[in-house]
Amino acid sequence: ESNQAFSNILIRWYERHKRDLPWRETKDPYAIWLSEIILQQTRVAQGLPYFQKFIARFPAVGSLAQASQEEVLALWQGLGYYSRARNLHACAQMVASQYDGKFPNTYKELLQLKGVGAYTAAAIASFAFNEAVPVVDGNVYRVVSRVFGLHDDISNASTRKVFEGRLVSLIPSDTPGEFNQAIMEFGALHCTPSAPDCKNCVFSHSCFAFRNNEVANLPVKTKK
Ligand code: ADE
Repeated sequence: ESNQAFSNILIRWYERHKRDLPWRETKDPYAIWLSEIILQQTRVAQGLPYFQKFIARFPAVGSLAQASQEEVLALWQGLGYYSRARNLHACAQMVASQYDGKFPNTYKELLQLKGVGAYTAAAIASFAFNEAVPVVDGNVYRVVSRVFGLHDDISNASTRKVFEGRLVSLIPSDTPGEFNQAIMEFGALHCTPSAPDCKNCVFSHSCFAFRNNEVANLPVKTKK
């Protein structure tokens, strides 16, 4: 598949199959940031009601910044990983005090925020601000390693650069956010860890792993 054909086919698949999720209906960096923090280590079905509760109670970053830590932790109850909730609150206070209540609009600046790593910064920058930075998460590693036959061990921190390099050549400059949502959704819904439906896949004719009977071996991951 040429790079452009890959993105076009992927985005066409996404338009047909994507789930309707509230954080996909907005360009508000606050709502996007909130959804991505909630969805770290959490499934969509579990995170969705928390997203609704937080947005209803704290419609903008200033209201979250002003809340007490107890209230934030109480609303977070049941999601686990409470350091996420403390970072969420600290980040909201940082945006309120240092950025006048407006999220910074570049990947580089977003990375400076409390609790915002490479994945979350790329998600916000591409979804809210159309910056062409790739998101790399477990779903993305799986799709890219299989379709393109990348055998680098994803347990090694240095492998991230290899995948980012490939993704930079794939991501379309006009719709980077849609491309990023699409590749994550494709990994979540179609190119699944076990028993993916390869015969009915939009990449079946070109996918390296399918053509070489390596679907079960990719991505390569040596450590848990
Ligand atoms: N998991 C993490 N981020 C997500 C998103 N934006 N949409 C669906 N699932 C996700």
